[in-house]
Amino acid sequence: MADKPTKGLADVVAASTALSDIDGQAGRLFYRGYDIHDLAGRTTFEETARLLQCGKLPNREQLTAYGAELVRGRTLGPLVEANIPEIAEKQAPMEALRTLVSLAAADDPDKDSNSSEANLRKAARLTAQQPLLVARYHGARTGTAVPDPDPELSIAANFLLQITGRPADSRAVELFDTCLVLHADHTMNASTFAARVCAATLSDMHSAVVAAIGTLKGPLHGGANEQVMRTLESLDPSGVAQAVRDKLAAGEKIMGFGHRVYKTEDPRATHLRRMSQELAEASGDDTYYRMSKEMEEVVFETKGLYPNVDFYAATVYHYLGIPTDLFTPVFSVSRMSGWTAHVIEQHADNRLIRPDSEYIGERDQKWKSIDER
Ligand code: COA
Repeated sequence: MADKPTKGLADVVAASTALSDIDGQAGRLFYRGYDIHDLAGRTTFEETARLLQCGKLPNREQLTAYGAELVRGRTLGPLVEANIPEIAEKQAPMEALRTLVSLAAADDPDKDSNSSEANLRKAARLTAQQPLLVARYHGARTGTAVPDPDPELSIAANFLLQITGRPADSRAVELFDTCLVLHADHTMNASTFAARVCAATLSDMHSAVVAAIGTLKGPLHGGANEQVMRTLESLDPSGVAQAVRDKLAAGEKIMGFGHRVYKTEDPRATHLRRMSQELAEASGDDTYYRMSKEMEEVVFETKGLYPNVDFYAATVYHYLGIPTDLFTPVFSVSRMSGWTAHVIEQHADNRLIRPDSEYIGERDQKWKSIDER
């Protein structure tokens, strides 16, 4: 007889990882031993992705080589190219990404290998392709030409260029790059767990990432950032406090608050709040930032909950000119680095992930023929 399950696997240690670690009581996050506060604003997304996928912060030579690999990988194969227009017409952004990454597997030269060398190459290609997929999808659905990625620019700069159609100023690029660093990995979050379960069957990296994208899409996980913006847009700026109290009194969840692991402020939210304020002030209209601060105060007073990574990410992306329904895809652009690193780690020391379940159905049923039921 199996033990009673912990609902939602809360506090269950499901895997060993050397990638990231959270201290939920102290509100601290580490990537491979580096405090997120030391990385954010000082380490680029490319360095962070390389750190996660290869194990060490790259020196200049290693970073140049990784950058060149990303530039080479930043192309889309024929199957993806051929299908983008129809997918853009019929699928919402996260559905489209799920489909496009699946199609990208067919175009990948390493699709049949799970070797560590092939996995590293696929990890770099997937990391390079994800922002391009988002931009090309957006271009196709809006009927706009997407500028080619500039090999001299970072992933962050290219993404803003491709989404908005014009080069972003250097401070916007720095801030967006920091967003990508902050979202890169986060221990056994739901999408990473999904990726690891898939990889542990010795399925391939693209399949694992497709499982992860489908999991990130939900509003209790990555989909929350889009819902935060929709909530802000739906509220009257002069009635924020009462509206939030009413929602809480009605038992509604306020998206962007609460966390399974953090019992205090999510350290990523600390950076994102500051970034949101800076961008709001620079934009000349800080309404959404002020509304966010008010929401934060009311949710804390009423429920004792802190904002999570998705709360201030919403207004940061908004002020950067990113369309609201691309907020969760942006999360996937960053988290691709973590997912792929976890697949590499899972394949390197694998055992099938197959937990037990508690049976709560009826027993000793008597079979009847179809005419007797
Ligand atoms: N708004 C209002 N109440 C919330 C809440 C929120 N955002 N998050 C949690 N709560 C409340 C629950 O209603 C529950 O209250 P109860 O005990 O009175 O029923 C309690 O806090 C525990 O919540 P629960 O959903 O069981 O916690 P969890 O650990 O399973 O879930 C989240 C964690 C993140 C899924 C949850 O906080 C949530 O749904 N947040 C909103 C979605 C979100 O922002 N997701 C992004 C996460 S990074």
